[in-house]
Amino acid sequence: MKVSVIGTGYVGLVTGSTLADLGNQVVCLDILEEKISMLNSGKSPIYEPGLDELIKKGLKNKNLIGSTEIEQNIRNTDITFICVGTPSDKNGNIDLSYIKSASSTIGRALRDKSEKHTVIVKSTVIPLTTEEVVMPNILKKSGWKRENLGIGMNPEFLREGSAIHDAQNPDRIVIGFADDVARKTLKELYDPYKCTKLECSPRTAELIKYASNSFLATKISFVNEIANMSNIWGIDFQEVAEGMGLDSRISAEFLRAGAGFGGSCFPKDVKALAAAAKNSKVESLILKATLEVNDIQPKIIVKMAEERLGVIKGKKIAVLGLAFKPETDDVRESRSEIVISELIEKGANVVAHDPEGMPNFKKLIDVKMTPTPELATEKADCVVIMTEWDIYKNLDLESLLKRMNGNVLIDGRRTLNAKEADKVGFDYKTIGLG
Ligand code: UDX
Repeated sequence: MKVSVIGTGYVGLVTGSTLADLGNQVVCLDILEEKISMLNSGKSPIYEPGLDELIKKGLKNKNLIGSTEIEQNIRNTDITFICVGTPSDKNGNIDLSYIKSASSTIGRALRDKSEKHTVIVKSTVIPLTTEEVVMPNILKKSGWKRENLGIGMNPEFLREGSAIHDAQNPDRIVIGFADDVARKTLKELYDPYKCTKLECSPRTAELIKYASNSFLATKISFVNEIANMSNIWGIDFQEVAEGMGLDSRISAEFLRAGAGFGGSCFPKDVKALAAAAKNSKVESLILKATLEVNDIQPKIIVKMAEERLGVIKGKKIAVLGLAFKPETDDVRESRSEIVISELIEKGANVVAHDPEGMPNFKKLIDVKMTPTPELATEKADCVVIMTEWDIYKNLDLESLLKRMNGNVLIDGRRTLNAKEADKVGFDYKTIGLG
């Protein structure tokens, strides 16, 4: 099938390159010349394990190409995926400006096309957006009759760091369709994947995406709250999580307590769903609490350091981990940003390290950074681990302690073995361990 993908962010690139890998003819579209020339030279504009290889393979097989000639390429394909960003505004409301401009572009492109065309929204959008914003806009700008146009919504469930694996091994594919044109096209496109395919309306597909992300975020805030109780009662939350996870109704996934959730999806999506519900006069108490607990967790990390150090002012604190999770350079909504800002505000001399996230984090806070964790922890009074990268899991604890000025080790992600850290002589503290 001939596929065009609007937006070469993380969703668009993973969608485009995996569909090309299935043998489709895919063109990835973006207005940014820089991103497209990078893509056409075989390099992914974002860091995602396996993506460079898949892009190179697609270019070599001539199944994948990038272009800034947007309208012409839309016209020459059978299906267009909208994969543009849907950021939050300052009140948490979803900002649909990129969605609106992408649908206007598609409408203009279709003016000169006579064959059927399917448009699928993959970006995360509030229920009714596909039917009440995207579809009317395309019809208006194209002058098309409704019957030639396929309209659908097909959310992604990709985790950064394992997005290629998730796209190629989906738990389920949600096929939201407003008509038979879109239903048929999506079923044919996804035929090679043998998982459950759930057929529903676009608005249902839109809510499935928000409900899934909000549920997972709520699960994390819930376990963090229970882990905070465990701290007070001298209970190891990891054992509690194990006991809970053995119940198949709960599942053992997403029971890791720590500094809270970050990234480009959970914080934004929970805020957007809560704001959309409020605008429709349904106050979501649970989503509000999910966000509140998530704001508290990084503050608990700072408090743990403060309790051990006495005063923060003038202390050298090494923060290891800036990315919102391992295997990514993404620092959006990273809990490290909150921890580092608070530590700096309290007068600490913060030195940070991250294997991939330093260039992006520099744009958020101009904190001192070092090329290795060893340099960051040299003469530190306290070390705070904020991302569970393997490089930190494998730290040699004895030499770490020798390098440091003090012995305070705060583990925001339960990265290290608590007993080993205690044995070496650290004053070790983590979330969810007595
Ligand atoms: C998430 C969803 O998993 C994915 O389906 C959706 O499409 C996009 O959002 P992602 O943001 O890439 O993916 O990361 P994920 O691995 O889900 O982790 C999100 C955040 O939650 C991270 O900050 C992580 O550290 C935190 N987390 C995750 C926990 O604190 N505890 C857990 O048990 C799991």
